[in-house]
Amino acid sequence: MVFRLKERIGRKFDEEVRFFKGWQKDKKGVGAIIPTSSFAARRMASVINTHSGLPVLELGAGTGVITKAILEKGVKPENVVSLEYSHHFYVHLRARFPEVDFRHGDAFNLDEALGERRHQQFDCVICAVPMLSFPMERRVSLLEDLLSRIPAGRPVIQITYGALSPIMAMPDRYTISHYDFVVRNIPPAQLWVYRRAVDLCLPETAK
Ligand SMILES: C[S@@+](CC[C@H](N)C(=O)[O-])C[C@H]1O[C@@H](n2cnc3c(N)ncnc32)[C@H](O)[C@@H]1O
Repeated sequence: MVFRLKERIGRKFDEEVRFFKGWQKDKKGVGAIIPTSSFAARRMASVINTHSGLPVLELGAGTGVITKAILEKGVKPENVVSLEYSHHFYVHLRARFPEVDFRHGDAFNLDEALGERRHQQFDCVICAVPMLSFPMERRVSLLEDLLSRIPAGRPVIQITYGALSPIMAMPDRYTISHYDFVVRNIPPAQLWVYRRAVDLCLPETAK
């Protein structure tokens, strides 16, 4: 029991050191100094519909805290497609979760990063890319790209540390809702959900 506790604390410490090193290499791109907490990760993974039969797309996997929560939710590793920009994190992720389909690439160039899976439909998108590090125009176009890869009505969930939605409202294109405020995260995190409204996808005559 004590040995397991020590092992867990040791693993958490290793993760924090690895994350801090990644942050030192690219402060803006990593966007946080400490990995996402397991509480925030579990809240994000709670939006997954494990019965949809579709894989889950994760963006900005970092040390893999959210990947672990996705797997613990019951998604098979081969049904997780996860993208990470930093080579430092990517190498570690592949070793930690060998069965997950990790991609080393840029969320802003998803077709290239997803390669042969670029036409794949996903159940939902779990996104930890630090949106605030990018101009608003790019955030909106990333969101629209993500929404086109999931069924209408399914969520893109985004973690952020600001008080407001990191992506501006475009009510004619998507809906925004506040999902949670996670105090047990350093710093406390806000979770936002974006969806393509179902009736936005119907042809004019069907509305
Ligand atoms: C705030 S960290 C969260 C990481 C993860 N949740 C964790 O706790 O370890 C953001 C992650 O997004 C990655 N990232 C930043 N820009 C990216 C991009 N354009 N495409 C893919 N990943 C990106 C960073 O390298 C970093 O791992």
